Amino acid sequence: MASKGAILIAGGAGYIGSHCSKAVADAGFLPVCYDNLATGHRSFVQWGPLVVGDVADSIKVATTIQKYDVRAVMHFAASSAVGESVADPQAYYLNNVAGTLGLLQGMRAAGCDRLVFSSTGAVYGNAGREPIPESAAGPTVNPYGRSKYMIEQILADYRAAYGFASIALRYFNACGADSSAVIGEMREPETHLIPRALMALQGHVGDFAIFGADYDTPDGTAVRDYIHVDDLAVAHIAALDRLLQGQPGGVYNLGTGTGYSVKEIVDAIHRETGEAVPVVMRERRAGDPAILVADPAHAERELGFKAQHSDLPNIIRSAWAWHQKAHPRRG
Ligand SMILES: NC(=O)c1ccc[n+]([C@@H]2O[C@H](COP(=O)([O-])OP(=O)(O)OC[C@H]3O[C@@H](n4cnc5c(N)ncnc54)[C@H](O)[C@@H]3O)[C@@H](O)[C@H]2O)c1
Repeated sequence: MASKGAILIAGGAGYIGSHCSKAVADAGFLPVCYDNLATGHRSFVQWGPLVVGDVADSIKVATTIQKYDVRAVMHFAASSAVGESVADPQAYYLNNVAGTLGLLQGMRAAGCDRLVFSSTGAVYGNAGREPIPESAAGPTVNPYGRSKYMIEQILADYRAAYGFASIALRYFNACGADSSAVIGEMREPETHLIPRALMALQGHVGDFAIFGADYDTPDGTAVRDYIHVDDLAVAHIAALDRLLQGQPGGVYNLGTGTGYSVKEIVDAIHRETGEAVPVVMRERRAGDPAILVADPAHAERELGFKAQHSDLPNIIRSAWAWHQKAHPRRG
């Protein structure tokens, strides 16, 4: 066993969970992946054991925590496609909210009371201001964001009632890939902007659509804050350290404070790959706010975290290296 003990990584076979597992191992812990493989990949579990299980299964969670003497949990396991959550909210509340309650029940039964939780910029809905401070959360505009905000509130109640320590990290748009190109973004179907655009270049998706060019933004397309997954991993280790030092926790944005429009991302992909993404224009999607840009000051002040890997060229080059290795060009 790694000298600093075991960390349970719920959802560790997914995109962000696998990158954080690598960082957890690099920091001297044993990452124990707990994943039902709904959207995750066995091949992404490289730095510790894989336990195939559902977070809703509180008994299996408790047994796993006891078996590995887990010190804290990182919780990435969720359904996270905004459009899907609008079409099927029940599936989202069941997997995200009820699933998290199962995880928490299992943790408490096993005597583990430290959690780093994957929240999201979707808790802000149409915040109508930029950059967005943590205090602006609440008026969510889709079931996915609501499910995550509900979990944050559950965690605050657990902190008050049981002394259960948790840090909720509200990521804005995660992107990029590990420099080894062994892990990266891989979903079926792929709905995220950068991987879908790169897959369009490779001939793996029929078209690449921009949803909405009539937003109240400088070029009419939606604006987001893009944060490299390596930066997210650094922030997770900082949060874990705080919890292990006995801090009660809190809620933090993880973003850069800079927004890019969809068109700006498509142009950057053209610059970095030398190829033009074949774009089609479509109507806005239900549940998509116009602008989401983080105020990163609170995480910088209290976690000592500042994004270092999130410049657009690094994001796109690392994602492109992963895609070229993971699923080479068709035709
Ligand atoms: N990707 C982003 O831009 C982004 C932004 C904000 C927040 N998040 C959050 O970060 C987390 C990770 O996102 P991701 O992009 O890596 O997604 P992902 O789909 O790649 O990873 C999720 C992992 O959780 C597993 N999982 C899902 N439900 C489970 C369950 N009930 N029991 C056990 N395992 C389960 C999946 O198999 C998968 O391995 C999610 O909670 C997501 O809501 C992601």
